[in-house]
Amino acid sequence: MQVHQYDVVIVGAGGAGMRAAIEAGQRAHTAVLTKLYPTRSHTGAAQGGMCAALANVEEDNWEWHTFDTIKGGDYLVDQDAAEVMAKEAIDAVLDLEHMGLPFNRTPEGKIDQRRFGGHTRDHGKAPVRRACYAADRTGHMILQTLYQNCVKHNVEFYNEVYVLDVLLNETEATREDGTSYLQKHVSGVVTYDLSTGEIAVFQAKAVVFATGGAGKVFKTTSNAHTLTGDGMAMAFRRGIPLEDMEFVQFHPTGLAGLGILLSEAARGEGAVLRNSEGERFMERYAPTIKDLAPRDIVARSMANEVREGRGSGPNKDYVLLDLTHLEPAHIDAKLPDITEFARTYLGVEPYTEPVPVFPTAHYVMGGIPTNIKGEVLQDNDTVVPGLYAAGEVACVSVHGSNRLGTNSLLDINVFGKRSGIAAAEYSKTADFVELPENPAEFVEDLVAHVRENNGTERVALIRKDLQDTMDLNMQVFRSGDTIAEALKDIESLRERYKNIGIQDKGKRFNLDLLEAIELGFLLDLAEVMTVSALHRQESRGGHYREDFPDRDDANFMKHTMIYKDEDAVTEGIKGMRFDTKPVIFTRYEPMERKY
Ligand code: FUM
Repeated sequence: MQVHQYDVVIVGAGGAGMRAAIEAGQRAHTAVLTKLYPTRSHTGAAQGGMCAALANVEEDNWEWHTFDTIKGGDYLVDQDAAEVMAKEAIDAVLDLEHMGLPFNRTPEGKIDQRRFGGHTRDHGKAPVRRACYAADRTGHMILQTLYQNCVKHNVEFYNEVYVLDVLLNETEATREDGTSYLQKHVSGVVTYDLSTGEIAVFQAKAVVFATGGAGKVFKTTSNAHTLTGDGMAMAFRRGIPLEDMEFVQFHPTGLAGLGILLSEAARGEGAVLRNSEGERFMERYAPTIKDLAPRDIVARSMANEVREGRGSGPNKDYVLLDLTHLEPAHIDAKLPDITEFARTYLGVEPYTEPVPVFPTAHYVMGGIPTNIKGEVLQDNDTVVPGLYAAGEVACVSVHGSNRLGTNSLLDINVFGKRSGIAAAEYSKTADFVELPENPAEFVEDLVAHVRENNGTERVALIRKDLQDTMDLNMQVFRSGDTIAEALKDIESLRERYKNIGIQDKGKRFNLDLLEAIELGFLLDLAEVMTVSALHRQESRGGHYREDFPDRDDANFMKHTMIYKDEDAVTEGIKGMRFDTKPVIFTRYEPMERKY
């Protein structure tokens, strides 16, 4: 078996991974491992913009941006992280400009900025133009620009290479208070090469996880097929906790019935949501900023219109996004892709007809806990030396319980850069950690088991049943009963998963095998999401419990931490330990969240 050696290994070649690679690649011997081709990463599907308080078109400052991020996240945001992100946003955009990103421009030649949900002037007084953009293909442009710059800096890519395990050694250690614990150290990752079926080890002084989200837990999602939460699940299996996994964002405007993303930029450019009576209903739910309220509020308002019988269409199960009052030339210049999606997938002409839309699972706010340097935490206080995470896979808790639109492209750039620098600097003084005796044993067993298990259950059917129950029971509105129903289904799907059989037993391009392994990741994460959601008996941000409709700061102003622990039982589930972590406050006291 081949063993590669690098100072820094980055897992994932989306925006966070490549932004980290640009920094690490200039400072240390760096490899990027991706299960895709880099420019096919999901960052390329991000549409509307990346925010920064540049104040190019109207007054703005990073403090307003910080406040909006914290309030948008319903005060579960770690405020030190939000401050870092909002402050460094300005340089993050300028870095991309200098790398060659073709942003839209104002007539004077400055980077243009547009409105987006929850971004406001002076603490909520009115929407502010803070999102820098390249038409409605901002993520695509970022991905291409970062890739070109990785090539420029000779970053080494290993494409179509799946990372299936992270190697974490443990040593006895003692805390200042005299208590002992097991300190984890990273020594590398184990890979499976799609083209050959070969398993290999990448030994590294530092590993950066940048594997993105887990939207494929749901059926109706804006996420690509590849978003199976691999990084989160791998870390969890090796004893790293997962933070705040109950908070999943539903983007308000998915194409109805399909979930394909229609950027919030449409509303930023002036489109409005209407119910079957033609009413601009967001005026009732968010009288000050209306259609540009944060996503959790808009998504719930839409779902509520449908529940109360004011949905459109033959089944009254969606609402309408109305762009018909916008000039066709303006639509073509600012929103070319999404209007084409409406024509292609729904046969609707946005110049003249409103577009059917409904919330779609879009983003996981939780993930692998990190500090603001991107260092992964094995518990509330203990860093895993050499292990980093950035982007959607991570929870630096800059989004709290609800992310603002355009803060994701920002997050990947700010924390991708930070973790790339930190990983490279760490690798300069660190030694390689010795590999375990049989480093690939776990992956070899996993692959052999999936390949050789001749069970009767089909992977696609289990995945479908998982996505169905998550769509039905872990939606915009949930309750103890629906969440428990999802958890019950997940437990029975886990039993069925033990009895899977795949048809392709070969080694080359065996996607049958890899989809089975990815389904294992999805099942683990769905279980963590539902257990976390059951525990949080309040409503906050993207987690709305009909049986606990109010935010409860006295009991729940804290992060959820779920650990894999064979001896523990949480919400009736054996093998999971529940804990909490304090929210970091710097200057903003929690307030009532009105828009
Ligand atoms: O609506 C959008 O363009 C999505 C942006 C985001 O998720 O940040």
